[in-house]
Amino acid sequence: MIIAIDGPAASGKGTLGKRLAQHYGYRHLDTGVIYRAVAHELIRQGADLADETRAVRAALELDPDTFGDPALKSQTMGEAASVVSAIPKVRLVLVDFQRQFAMTPPGAVLDGRDIGTVICPDADVKIFVVADPKVRARRRALEARGRGEEADEAKILADILARDERDQNRPVAPLKPAKDAYLLDNSKLDIEAGVRAAIDIVEAVRAGRLRV
Ligand code: DC
Repeated sequence: MIIAIDGPAASGKGTLGKRLAQHYGYRHLDTGVIYRAVAHELIRQGADLADETRAVRAALELDPDTFGDPALKSQTMGEAASVVSAIPKVRLVLVDFQRQFAMTPPGAVLDGRDIGTVICPDADVKIFVVADPKVRARRRALEARGRGEEADEAKILADILARDERDQNRPVAPLKPAKDAYLLDNSKLDIEAGVRAAIDIVEAVRAGRLRV
């Protein structure tokens, strides 16, 4: 089974996807990490984030061993990832890696922005996760402080809104729900409740009780 989790609030530490994968004994890929890794490499080279040639090369040379690097988690890297992810050729290069991951047994949970629409349009279950941007800004600030970073919530909110706008309006693979995605608003749910709600959706879809 392939579970696609998309939406502006899909990742947030990758917790929801990770927890779902643990629940079902599946593999998990937080696809935002891929774009963050490409952005990180460009920054390391001192290159422009819009440098298509270098960005494509970084995407081709992607090394999954670097996905755990804490430097990838920062708000700044998320912003930079949003910029490189708007380059169509970068997205194209990364399609195969994601599809291979999705198709490898025993099953997979992928979270990102275009999993249900582009990467795995035939995913068995698609969940589109949204949350009030103010709530997301609060959560990101708490996460950043938890990592020992300073966090200005108003700036984080402005960044979130700018990033959503860019992700939703790029010409290739824009952030939008697949027609058959089930909407999950976790503004008022803590992590545990969000995970339970997602499992309920998966179970209902599998049992044929939920049609979207
Ligand atoms: O989920 P995240 O914050 O790690 O994602 C960082 C950026 O990467 C996000 O703003 C847009 C881009 N991204 C994407 O375009 N497609 C994905 N499947 C995942 C992330």
